[in-house]
Amino acid sequence: MTTRINQKWVLAKRPTGEPTEDCFRLEEESVGELDEGEILVEIKYLSLDPYMRGRMREGKSYAEPIKIGEIITGECAGVVIESKCPRWKVGDTLTVHEGWQSLARVNGEAATLLPADANLAPLSTWLGAVGMPGRTAYFGLQRVGKPKRGETLVVSAASGAVGSVVGQIGRLQGLRVVGVAGGAEKCAYCVEELGFDACIDYKAGTLEEELSASCPNGVDIYFENVGGAVTRAVAGLLNEGARVPICGFISLYNSEEDITQVETPFTVFAGLDTPPEHRFFLVREWFDEWLAASAELAGWIQLGELKYRETVAEGLAQAPAAFRGLLSGQNFGKQLVRVTS
Ligand SMILES: NC(=O)c1ccc[n+]([C@@H]2O[C@H](COP(=O)([O-])OP(=O)(O)OC[C@H]3O[C@@H](n4cnc5c(N)ncnc54)[C@H](OP(=O)(O)O)[C@@H]3O)[C@@H](O)[C@H]2O)c1
Repeated sequence: MTTRINQKWVLAKRPTGEPTEDCFRLEEESVGELDEGEILVEIKYLSLDPYMRGRMREGKSYAEPIKIGEIITGECAGVVIESKCPRWKVGDTLTVHEGWQSLARVNGEAATLLPADANLAPLSTWLGAVGMPGRTAYFGLQRVGKPKRGETLVVSAASGAVGSVVGQIGRLQGLRVVGVAGGAEKCAYCVEELGFDACIDYKAGTLEEELSASCPNGVDIYFENVGGAVTRAVAGLLNEGARVPICGFISLYNSEEDITQVETPFTVFAGLDTPPEHRFFLVREWFDEWLAASAELAGWIQLGELKYRETVAEGLAQAPAAFRGLLSGQNFGKQLVRVTS
């Protein structure tokens, strides 16, 4: 039997503010022989996502925190290299939710294992535009945002994994799409490559004026990804009957303040004279429809109607640095780590 060595990142200590290198520790372990029903997956790509920062906190949110010494949570795309489960054969590609590691030995029947057909869309996109972030955009905009042709949609973190898909689906549905992103390059990409009607650089110091000029008929849907100053600027432009899918608020993720005492999108929107319809949603709410959504997203990619961009860090060793970059906007599009080529 071949002795295979798995490398994995564990949580060495809880971050205070921005996670530092010493919050993470790289460990090695040998992977034993598979039990009946198990498969061994060689990880090709690791997805880095903002929610991982929340799991590094002590308190429970919508999920249990990662314990000290435990593997950092995360979704990966890979290929089956050994199988003792009839559901999977060697060579199958799939996504697994098994964390920051190079080999995943898993129960092949687990519901979290999903096929990732590389003939439909490249394997990496099953963690991005076709995978969890794409589905988040797909369901959040359509089921919570409830778009109607001709309406104005504003989306923040617009060039990112979720935001870029939100804006493009909005465009496909006949909305006026206005993005908000950090920096001229990201904004130019949203307009020139993705077809947004406008995109505003919130770092340029003219957010409120530019937003109001770009939304002459007000805002009907605000897809919330960031919180903070962007939220306050959009709040003043919301039309009666507006909808706000609250997907996340990354500007607060590194904050050490008590979340019950700080301004959040919930306090901003609930405090308006005419609050919009707003709620936090989780992509998991539509788990039963995930594969159908992925198929539709992959179809749009094949037709050239959905474009995506990836930032790929090379090697598992780079995961902590790439994760820190994601929390400060250094990624451009979906942040991935190529674990093995
Ligand atoms: N509810 C759900 O089920 C669900 C699922 C997936 C993701 N999400 C949420 O969706 C949001 C976007 O996630 P993603 O995976 O698509 O990430 P992403 O947009 O690809 O990357 C994060 C981006 O956030 C922006 N950002 C970072 N700090 C910021 C700040 N202080 N103020 C404003 N923008 C900031 C940066 O873009 P700029 O350079 O443009 O600032 C950065 O590139 C996050 O809030 C995430 O938690 C929710």
